[in-house]
Amino acid sequence: MFRKKNTLLIGCLLSATFYLLSCDNKPKQENKRKTIDYIKQIPGINDSIPVEVADKGEVLIAYSDCYTCHKEDQRSVGPAFRDIAKRYPVNKVYIEMLAHKVIIGGRGSWGSAVMDPHPELSFEDAKTMVTYILSLKK
Ligand code: HEC
Repeated sequence: MFRKKNTLLIGCLLSATFYLLSCDNKPKQENKRKTIDYIKQIPGINDSIPVEVADKGEVLIAYSDCYTCHKEDQRSVGPAFRDIAKRYPVNKVYIEMLAHKVIIGGRGSWGSAVMDPHPELSFEDAKTMVTYILSLKK
């Protein structure tokens, strides 16, 4: 009778320890995986960006609603502009793809938050804005 109780007690203690240990380890691993997945850097060649285009893009963004959901350095409703710049190579294909996305809106590349569509933007202006965002690449 005494033995049975003891084994039961040891069993409980062991599972409690394992439980605590596994709790302790989990958050660290999850955080690591999140940052790796979040930016998903795409390899590619970077074209040079004319300063006047980047400057114009910055002004267009300031006059639009972009900063209600985006910040330059920090994730907000949408991804930080610097994180977008880290992910995409600077070239025509990605600039046009992202400009199209800004106009039609959408979600799924960075999570489940939705970007509102911007049908009032011309494709040219959207491309200029995206060029500014990608110019934040370090
Ligand atoms: C209502 C909030 C909101 C506004 C306003 C907004 N965005 Fe976004 N934006 C988001 C969200 C959320 C995402 C992430 C979408 C995704 O995960 O696919 C995003 C993603 C992006 C991306 C990356 C798209 C991709 O597929 O990687 C670019 C570029 C971008 N926004 C530019 C802009 C510009 C330029 C403006 C202003 C004209 C703007 N956004 C306004 C919420 C917003």
